[in-house]
Amino acid sequence: MKLSTLDQVDVAGKVVLVRADYNVPLKNNKVTDVTRIKKTVATIQELREKKARVVLISHLGRPKGHNMPEYSLRPVAASLYKELGQVPVFFSDETIGLTAASLIDSLQPGEVALLENLRFYPEEERNDENFAAKLAQLADIYVNDAFSVCHRAHASVDAITKFLPSYAGRLLQEEIRQLETQLHSPRRPVMAIVGGAKISTKLNLLKSLAQRVDVLAIGGGMANTFLHAQGYEVGQSLCEKEMKHEAVQILADLSRRGCVTILPTDVVVAAEPVAGVKSRIVPVTDVPKDQMILDVGPKTIDDIVSNIDHCNTLIWNGSIGVNEIAPFEYATMLIARHTALQTQSGKLVSIAGGGDTAAALNQASCYDDFTYVSMGGGAFLEWLEGKPMPGIEALHHAAQEGIIAFENITLGKE
Ligand code: 3PG
Repeated sequence: MKLSTLDQVDVAGKVVLVRADYNVPLKNNKVTDVTRIKKTVATIQELREKKARVVLISHLGRPKGHNMPEYSLRPVAASLYKELGQVPVFFSDETIGLTAASLIDSLQPGEVALLENLRFYPEEERNDENFAAKLAQLADIYVNDAFSVCHRAHASVDAITKFLPSYAGRLLQEEIRQLETQLHSPRRPVMAIVGGAKISTKLNLLKSLAQRVDVLAIGGGMANTFLHAQGYEVGQSLCEKEMKHEAVQILADLSRRGCVTILPTDVVVAAEPVAGVKSRIVPVTDVPKDQMILDVGPKTIDDIVSNIDHCNTLIWNGSIGVNEIAPFEYATMLIARHTALQTQSGKLVSIAGGGDTAAALNQASCYDDFTYVSMGGGAFLEWLEGKPMPGIEALHHAAQEGIIAFENITLGKE
């Protein structure tokens, strides 16, 4: 699969519409985590230096086609101004139409504008071609710099590539390069850590990893469902009892393939998920009926850590304990730091993805010590599952159909 990149286009004086992912956490109208914003700076600055007129588009949250002020991208413009080194970011309250068009008309080469949330328009999620055409009318060139939305067949990701010469931005290029390089033919043995609340949201991922990895460690709330499927009492723990059959099936697949499966053997339990609540460590055989599992215990941590030491590649998605409530972040923090040390000493390739996982690595102060942390949440999971990604396929088709056809990134097998 071939994509065109910024190396193959002259953007001077042109209006370049950049699809970014500014789906960031907000509190009191302020961005509380700027990681995603920082990651788009390289593409924006390159375009500015090349004298493009840069117009950024993104979604934020799931306003379902309604104009909801709490999902406005305006606070992102303020953060972007800082991240770009105090470059003004002009903001348009409308995404398409005259207001947006006249703001863009007034942009000088090197200047930057941000348009309001794409998902205020129901047509965005419907991949509506008329909406895509209206977006395209605002610009000369389209750049997708949002790997984390490439699993969505939405107008600003997919349909728009039918109307403008389309390119991959530097962040998208880097995401694909890293995931391709590290995960296409990974150095074995390969271990995966999958955590998070529910099996139901990660069923396909678990099934797909069960076919490919040598060691699978299961943590988070979803581990409780596996423990329940094995006949253990899980008390008041989060548990999807209706997924018992799927859990049994996954465990059978793993054992048939000879994959080492790590489920908690000891756990931290408490009466409720509240900071500082009285907690204790018990074997999984002894979870009291009135308590809930909130983290894994030291034996399980040892088991995970010693398996990491015997593997060459680690893929990580999801938290092991309830990280946002002290002290139930302990296992995730310790395992994250151990992974970082192994990575830094050159023994391990570590790839993580997903919003919660990235936040946990920040919490453990080891985000930069992993080989690569993908900006993708759902997109990272779908990549791991091997699903086609509409955003990447659309760029590929645009390049193939010769709107501007150059070859640069090679994706997977031809
Ligand atoms: C994400 O945060 O994973 C992306 O921005 C996609 O968001 P969505 O799941 O609402 O499409």
